[in-house]
Amino acid sequence: MKEEKANDLFSTKVGAIAAAAGSAVGLGNIWRFPYVLGENGGAAFLVVYIISTILIAIPVLLTEFVIGRKTNLPVSGAYNSLAPNKWWNQIGIIGVLCAFIILSFYNVVAGWTMCYTVRSATGALQGLSEDAIQQAFVSLSESPWECLIWMVVTIVASAFIVSRGVKRGIEWSSRILMPLLLLLIIVVCVRSLTLDGALQGVQFLLSPDFSKITPQSIFEALGQSFFSLSIGMGTMTTYGAYISKKQNLTSCAFSVAFVDFVIAFLAALMIMPCAFACGINPGSGPGLVFVTLPNIFNAIMFGQAISFVFFLLLFIAALTSSVSLLEVIVAYFMNEHSFSRRKATVVSAILIGIFGTLCAFSKTLFGLFDNFSANVMLPLGALFIILFAPIILGRTGMRNELEAHGGKCKLFGLYYALVRYVVPIAIVIIFVNCIMSWMGVKIFA
Ligand code: PHE
Repeated sequence: MKEEKANDLFSTKVGAIAAAAGSAVGLGNIWRFPYVLGENGGAAFLVVYIISTILIAIPVLLTEFVIGRKTNLPVSGAYNSLAPNKWWNQIGIIGVLCAFIILSFYNVVAGWTMCYTVRSATGALQGLSEDAIQQAFVSLSESPWECLIWMVVTIVASAFIVSRGVKRGIEWSSRILMPLLLLLIIVVCVRSLTLDGALQGVQFLLSPDFSKITPQSIFEALGQSFFSLSIGMGTMTTYGAYISKKQNLTSCAFSVAFVDFVIAFLAALMIMPCAFACGINPGSGPGLVFVTLPNIFNAIMFGQAISFVFFLLLFIAALTSSVSLLEVIVAYFMNEHSFSRRKATVVSAILIGIFGTLCAFSKTLFGLFDNFSANVMLPLGALFIILFAPIILGRTGMRNELEAHGGKCKLFGLYYALVRYVVPIAIVIIFVNCIMSWMGVKIFA
C-alpha cells in the first residue's frame, strides 16, 4: 500500500526515463566532473572515465534497473524482498546512509547555484575583473551563514517537491528545461572556445598524456562515473521499479548514460578553454565552475540574462537530483517505519539540514563527504549490487527481466560476463591499487 504510493510517482513510460535522466544529470555533470577532471590532468582522465562508464558503470546501472523492475519496489524494499533474512538486504540501508551523506554537501553546492542565480539577476557579477570574480566566490564559500541560508532554500524546495509527489515537476523539468540547459551550455561553449587562449584548454581536454594516470585518478574516475549516473546506492533501483515491463531496459540504460555523458563532456568543454584563457588553474577544486563561468558571461552578448537563466536551470537540474536522493530516504521511512509521506519528508529534511549545516561550516567535512560518498560508498554499494544480482536472481532471472518487453537482449552474454566477473574484479583491483599507492606500494602504474 505504502509502496504503491511510491510507485504512483512515475507511472508513465516517458516519465520514468525522464526521471532517471533527471536524477543522473545534475551538479555531478556540470560542477563535479569539470573540477575532478581538472584536478586529475584532463584528457587522460577523460579516457579512463569513458572506459569506466562503458565497462563498469553502465552494467551496474542496468543491473539496478533489473532489480528495481523485477521487484517493483523502491530500494529499501527491493533487496529485502529478494533476499529476506539475508545480510544482503542491508544494501538498502547503505543506500539510505549514502543519500544522507551526498545530500549534505550537494545541497550546499545547489545553494551556491541559487546564490549565483540571484547575483546574476541583480547584476552583482557584471563587469567584474577575473580577480574580483574569484573573490566573489571566496566570499560566498567562506561565509557559512550565507551558505546555510541558500542551502535551507534548496532543502525546503526539494522537500516541497517530494511531499507533493514528484511526477509532474520532474517530467516537466527533464523534458523542457533540461534541453534548454543543454542549448545554453552549447552557446556558452561556443563563446568559451572563441576566447583568446582557449586552445590550450581544448588541448588539456583532448590530447591525453597517459603518464598522468595514477591509481588515484583511476579511483576518482570510477567514483565520478558512479556519482554522475546516480548508481551504487539504489536511486536507480527505485527508478527501475517505475519503468514499465513493455520497455527495453538496455536501451533505457544506454539513453540515460549517453545523455549524462554528453552533458558532462560539454560542461568540461565550456569550462576548460575559459579557465586557460583567464589564467585560472583547472585544478582549483570545487569552486572551478563558479570562478570560470562569470568570465564568459561578461564576454558575451546579453551575458547577464544568459547567466541568470543558466544558473537557474543549473539549480533546477540540481534540484531534480536532490529530489531523487531525498526520495530514497523518504521511501525508507515510509516503508520501514510506516511514516506518512509528509512526516517522512519533514523528518528527512530536518536531518539533512543538520548534516548540511556541518558541511556549510566545515570545508574539511565538505571535502570528506564529497570524496567519501563518490569514491568509497558508491563503488562499494555497486559491488554489493553486482554480486547480489547474479547470485540471487540467477542468469535466467536477469535475462528474463531484460527481455520482459518481448525482444531479445543481444548483448546479454557480454553484459552477464561483465557483471559476473569484470565489474566486481575491477572495482576490487581499483580500490586495492589506490589504497596501496597511498601506502607507497605500487602494484600497477
Ligand atoms: N547523479 C547526480 C548528479 O550528477 C548526483 C546523484 C548521485 C544523485 C547519486 C543521486 C544519487 O548530480
